[in-house]
Amino acid sequence: MTDKNRVVIFDTTLRDGEQSPGATMSHEEKLEIAGLLDDMGVDIIEAGFPIASEGDFEAVSEIAKNAQSSVICGLARANFKDIDRCWEAVKHAKAPRIHTFIGTSPLHRAIPNLTKDEMADKIHETVCHARNLCDNLQWSPMDATRTEWEYLTRVVEIAIKAGATTINIPDTVGYTAPNESADLIRRLIAEVPGAEEVVFATHCHNDLGMATANSLAAVEGGARQIECTINGLGERAGNTALEEVVMAMKVRHDIIPFTTGIDTTKLMNISRRVAAVSGFAVQFNKAIVGKNAFAHESGIHQDGMLKNAETFEIMRPEDVGLTETNLVLGKHSGRAALRSKLADLGYELGDNQLKDVFVRFKALADQKKEVYDEDLIALMQVGSDVEDRIQLKAMKVSCGMDLEKRADMTLSIDGEEVSTSQTGDGPVDAAFNAVKALFSHRARLQLYQVSAVTEGTDAQATVSVRLEEDGKIATGQSADVDTVVASVRAYVDALNRLLVRREKTGGDTPEVSYKDAG
Ligand code: KIV
Ligand code: ZN
Repeated sequence: MTDKNRVVIFDTTLRDGEQSPGATMSHEEKLEIAGLLDDMGVDIIEAGFPIASEGDFEAVSEIAKNAQSSVICGLARANFKDIDRCWEAVKHAKAPRIHTFIGTSPLHRAIPNLTKDEMADKIHETVCHARNLCDNLQWSPMDATRTEWEYLTRVVEIAIKAGATTINIPDTVGYTAPNESADLIRRLIAEVPGAEEVVFATHCHNDLGMATANSLAAVEGGARQIECTINGLGERAGNTALEEVVMAMKVRHDIIPFTTGIDTTKLMNISRRVAAVSGFAVQFNKAIVGKNAFAHESGIHQDGMLKNAETFEIMRPEDVGLTETNLVLGKHSGRAALRSKLADLGYELGDNQLKDVFVRFKALADQKKEVYDEDLIALMQVGSDVEDRIQLKAMKVSCGMDLEKRADMTLSIDGEEVSTSQTGDGPVDAAFNAVKALFSHRARLQLYQVSAVTEGTDAQATVSVRLEEDGKIATGQSADVDTVVASVRAYVDALNRLLVRREKTGGDTPEVSYKDAG
């Protein structure tokens, strides 16, 4: 890279983001998100952790085969088996990268119980091994920001000498602050022999809400790769949000004079897709991609705003791919109008897909006379259930003051229709009890979340349901003008996803976690 102010965007939504409990994505969803990232101009996609499970391996391999412009990277702990498996998956890419790491702080060194010297030897031999497989090699000292300075410089030097081409400095627990983040990178570049030969990367977590500031400060200090995720998805408080660092460099280019290759008009669409497939809704006041992030979206229509949008907006909604909310389609709208409106919102549909969406659109337009952009987006986020093992066929729920809450329900399970009638503390409880009676399972409800898609009492409700069974987590989503129907569909969606996970991981096989790494 010749431009010294060009910052490489390394997206880890599919690895660090997806590893966050509850954010599990299906194989098809991972491929779709990887395609969107590639298309948006992400330089490097960390597609997964190939040794973690057969499913991870297959997803990384297929993403590698499909990639057009992005480098495809896989994660590996510091051992030959992980690294070999990673290489097997990423080698299909036009431009593959291996990312290997080890925890170097005192707390992390204690896990494998290695002395400093033993760990240094391990770093040397694993980085040499990985570099013999792949020219593009990233190495990370996990928990770098809590690693002793002398030891950090020692191991970074070893990794560079052994052939690493990118050195990533993770703030694994979100502990650093902007000044410290900038100084750390600046000092490493100044003091480690060979530092000028490699790219330094920053990888921040958001535990203290400083991930974006810390990443930008690291760039100020000399880092030229930012590791981030869409919507800041990630464990605990998440990772650096891609949309935030990219837009900060664009909007405040006068004082943060760095560039990226991201087509920012694609940010909104990918944010919505990641929210939908991960089941992690974007908070309304989230910077850049939140529902209220722009004045016209949050309903500020004061005089000044009407005369000059810059009164309240420092960036144009179109710059992040947001079209003005307006009344769109109704029950008389045809297929061509639906296709064209969806294309405006970033969804290009094939004929069969359009057929399915059109049926669901008509059903919605029958229930709701005003169909807004947000309604269509919610419709797109809920897939067709024709392939699912469990399908909701019919339900009727009675509720009200001093009335028994009862749900009559019919499900199709593996093609066979079964019915029951169950009671509960409320309508949703009764309906969930009916699902449980018809499809017995041990999954525990971890999250039940309802939000309105638009305003008004006829608004659709989007519901997320997260289930956990033997450490496996699945999130289901649905939208409907009837909140209880949306709840049951989301519950059934989560169960179907759990069944797919059960099949993919062969029942009780425990999956490997990157946190096992010492
Ligand atoms: O946060 C972290 O330290 C990581 C490493 C695996 C790079 O995600
Ligand atoms: Zn991380």
